[in-house]
Amino acid sequence: MIKIAILTTTLMLSSTLFQSLSAAESMPKETSSNPSFVTQPKYEVKNFDHLIGNISGLDDALLKMHFKLYEGYVNNTNIILQKLQLLNSTGQNKTPEFAALKRLVGWEFDGMLLHEYYFENLGGKSPLDSKDPLALKMNQDFGSFEQWKADFIATGLMRGIGWVVAYIEPKNGRLVNEWINEHDLGHLAGGTPILIMDVFEHAYITQFALDRAKYIDVFFANINWDAASRRFNKKPH
Ligand SMILES: [Fe+2]
Repeated sequence: MIKIAILTTTLMLSSTLFQSLSAAESMPKETSSNPSFVTQPKYEVKNFDHLIGNISGLDDALLKMHFKLYEGYVNNTNIILQKLQLLNSTGQNKTPEFAALKRLVGWEFDGMLLHEYYFENLGGKSPLDSKDPLALKMNQDFGSFEQWKADFIATGLMRGIGWVVAYIEPKNGRLVNEWINEHDLGHLAGGTPILIMDVFEHAYITQFALDRAKYIDVFFANINWDAASRRFNKKPH
């Protein structure tokens, strides 16, 4: 009962916020006359059309739907940042609306960025070279590629919606697989993301129903290991 009440309140708040956001778009842009606030750059939607027809075992329709969903995160991130700037520039930054948007922006931003990482590490045709520095790191920190993979998959099969992220953690430079709840809970501060897998239901359920393991098999068959390896090699470790 309490959960339902919280959900209802959240939905009402979200609805109010986005009505306000729409209204904000028609408001005068007062930031331009206030030198204290610079104009926020807009995030652009990245194009991943090269993946269509190029992911063996994954329906193009599902992929196109996923691109559309990703676009929503980019657009909402831009809208929220614009609204926050407006609230700052008009002296309304001690309001509940400001606080609610501040809490929301990380969710939308991470939804945007994680999808970009995910699409970027798809579309590969070759397995990870056993001599690649990333493969050697897997051996070092997990004992073998297969043991790293088993941990990554077990993380992806956890109940819930979210992401699996293989990070290099910033303290000792270990390779670790972490569960990210929704988009924003569970990230390692300062961690470098190496490989990202979307396990929200929208990523697979229209094609695989509840068989998430089958979707994960398809994901592994299509990893762009060059992208993952490039991320790994950029990080001092
Ligand atoms: Fe997704």
